[in-house]
Amino acid sequence: MSRDQKFFDMYSLVIGILAAFAIAILVLAMKMSDLTQGVYTRDADEYQSAVAERIRPFGEIYRPGDEIETAAPTVETAPEPEPVATVMTGPQVYNAACIACHGTGAGEAPIVGDAAAWSARIAQGTDVLNDHAVNGFDGDAITPMLAKGGRADLSDQEVIDAVAYMVSESQ
Ligand code: HEC
Repeated sequence: MSRDQKFFDMYSLVIGILAAFAIAILVLAMKMSDLTQGVYTRDADEYQSAVAERIRPFGEIYRPGDEIETAAPTVETAPEPEPVATVMTGPQVYNAACIACHGTGAGEAPIVGDAAAWSARIAQGTDVLNDHAVNGFDGDAITPMLAKGGRADLSDQEVIDAVAYMVSESQ
């Protein structure tokens, strides 16, 4: 046997073993993937529905008379927000709604802190003052006192608390 022939035999043997080894690995890998991917991933319901969702057509066109298969879209309405009870204190109401006139004397509004301007008004009694502040009052001043100072959003109690505060500051 020549040396070339010997080399060739050995070479073929090695190549053959390597090729067989490669095929064995390939077969093993395919078997493994069938066992795991097929059973556990591709057939899983979540996987299938996720794929269906991803490849869903972007939009569908219905012409008049077509059967519409999809369910009507459900409209989710946000729950009604709980009404926030914002009750302001007397001074807060005064600073927000009354000070524009009663801090400056605009339209001859009696200025808070001016005891002389308030004494006759205070003498009418709390009920009358409250009533005039809540419902409005057109007295001798050049402009009338608007109901709740024009702030219809205020509660009666808030206005009454503001009157108490204004009176206490003007005695
Ligand atoms: C747009 C200006 C204006 C605003 C704002 C205003 N007032 Fe007056 N207020 C007046 C005027 C003017 C008078 C005097 C009316 C008169 O005597 O004819 C008056 C009078 C009063 C009186 C005395 C009523 C009386 O019987 O003599 C009270 C109390 C009063 N206001 C409370 C308030 C309160 C409380 C607020 C805020 C919630 C307020 N006012 C906001 C203009 C205003």
